[in-house]
Amino acid sequence: MTTVLKLGGSVLTEKDEPETVDEAALERAAAALAGRDDLVVVHGGGSFGHHHADRYGVSTTAGTHDAEAVRAIHGAMKRLNAAVVDALADVDVPPLPVHPMSAAHRDESGTLTLPTGQVRTMLAEGFVPVLHGDCVVHAGAGATVLSGDELVVAVADAVGADRVGVCSAVPGVYDESGDVVEHIDSFEAVADALGASEATDVSGGMAGKVRELLDLAAPAYVFDLDGLEAFLDGENPGTRID
Ligand code: IPE
Repeated sequence: MTTVLKLGGSVLTEKDEPETVDEAALERAAAALAGRDDLVVVHGGGSFGHHHADRYGVSTTAGTHDAEAVRAIHGAMKRLNAAVVDALADVDVPPLPVHPMSAAHRDESGTLTLPTGQVRTMLAEGFVPVLHGDCVVHAGAGATVLSGDELVVAVADAVGADRVGVCSAVPGVYDESGDVVEHIDSFEAVADALGASEATDVSGGMAGKVRELLDLAAPAYVFDLDGLEAFLDGENPGTRID
């Protein structure tokens, strides 16, 4: 059973400290993943990517032609990626880094093209590909942010994922009264409750996540670190989106 797992940047990093890994959280995530394979890991930016993206005013739609800005964002994400890969290697997961900027691009409308033959071959050969949110060249805009959520969507269908997990800082998608919604099968049903969280990061917040996860062939789950092991064991923590 193939699983695609996103580890949110807000889970793995100290939000307010530029380029700081939350070591305890990374260790917990790695412990839950110990010894597993048939898995693609995608991680977000947290205080690595978002710090530099904010500094240079780059988002998924606002591009830059400043190569230094692109290298700053990409470089920070590679450093976080190396930390994640090392943590997984320490617990007998066979991780290999995959840097999306080297292979992906967006056309003028923003549509992403991401080759996935390497990811599929890594999986078939028993490796665990570890992708990260990144910068991506964007026709007419220079380069824009490529979020981990977009990567999850692009990769999940390409590898024929059976389950998709988004491990985030919250235990699931909240309704208006702050309770975790168990199941979401349409965006309209939760749009109002999600509106409030939309503006907080450069790549779309929870509303954007839900919208993209609904489009996947596989069921997706949003949960926090407490739910990670249960998700990997085939249980249904947090919010199911399908
Ligand atoms: C952002 O990825 C990547 C960059 C800012 C370069 P995500 O948007 O998926 O990151 P998190 O998980 O929200 O931190």
